[in-house]
Amino acid sequence: MKRILITGALGQIGSELAHYLAKEYGKDNIIATGRSHRNIEALGDLHFEMLDVSDGERLNELVEKNKIDTIVHLAAILSAKGETMPQETWHTNMGGLQNVLEVAKNTGAAVFTPSSIAVFGKDFPLDNTPQSTVMLPTTMYGVTKVSGEILADYYHQKFGVDARGVRYPGIISHLTLPGNGTTDYAVHIYYEAVKNNKYTSYIAKDTYMDMLYMPDALRAVVELMEANPDKLIHRNAFNITAMSLEPEKIAAAIRKHYPEFALDYAIDPVRQAIAESWPNSLDDTCAREEWGWHAEYDLPAMTADMLENLEKKLK
Ligand code: SER
Repeated sequence: MKRILITGALGQIGSELAHYLAKEYGKDNIIATGRSHRNIEALGDLHFEMLDVSDGERLNELVEKNKIDTIVHLAAILSAKGETMPQETWHTNMGGLQNVLEVAKNTGAAVFTPSSIAVFGKDFPLDNTPQSTVMLPTTMYGVTKVSGEILADYYHQKFGVDARGVRYPGIISHLTLPGNGTTDYAVHIYYEAVKNNKYTSYIAKDTYMDMLYMPDALRAVVELMEANPDKLIHRNAFNITAMSLEPEKIAAAIRKHYPEFALDYAIDPVRQAIAESWPNSLDDTCAREEWGWHAEYDLPAMTADMLENLEKKLK
């Protein structure tokens, strides 16, 4: 990676990845893009261009003009929001990815695009979910993510596009809030702990899902994109994870810092059903073996860092 264009750069991952890549590859080599200016302040003085990923011509123009060699394609509608607008979710997620892959085919750019734990849904092992197993998602977001994995593999096999990706679990971070997914509770719980010392969870007790702290999620992009391609068997997309969490476990970690922290529940049936259709825990052996993946943050380390940063931000 030398010159990188990021789509969805104003979102939860993009707004931090842009700075991370700027540090690694130089500020002048990063073009952050988004379809509005909402949250633009998160990018600071990084170079920003307006881009709606449904506009393939504009994407092609930006890639050629800026001599981009890697597109990090993050723009997508997440799981819970997707259930309120399935048609638009298909259009945005699939149309955007196909435009990115077409531009990559035409220009020779490499592509990183994240998949998700949402590719799983029915008839798969919930515990230690393997890299390769049944993928029958029950959300439109999951349908687009599994289709995206297949499409990216197709562009690699057929046209030699260097497309790579990971199946992100829930990502916990303190700069930009996630955009209405199912795992968002694991972010909100920290914000509410700092603000009010209590949280009402829409996900039920004992509902386990995989989570990853943002610094690990960012490092994964660079490590996968810089990995020796000869070693990659599963390009799109690798299971990666750091921890398997449910609300009480996070609350217990928060109570080490805020002993009075109170957790209660008001279950959202839509997001609860989605959560139950996703893995309890992922097996990330392939990522470990093929490109040396490992997570650095566990629950106590993440909790300490989240609370410290949110205290600075919110108090
Ligand atoms: N965090 C995402 C969501 O909950 C999963 O990829 O939708």
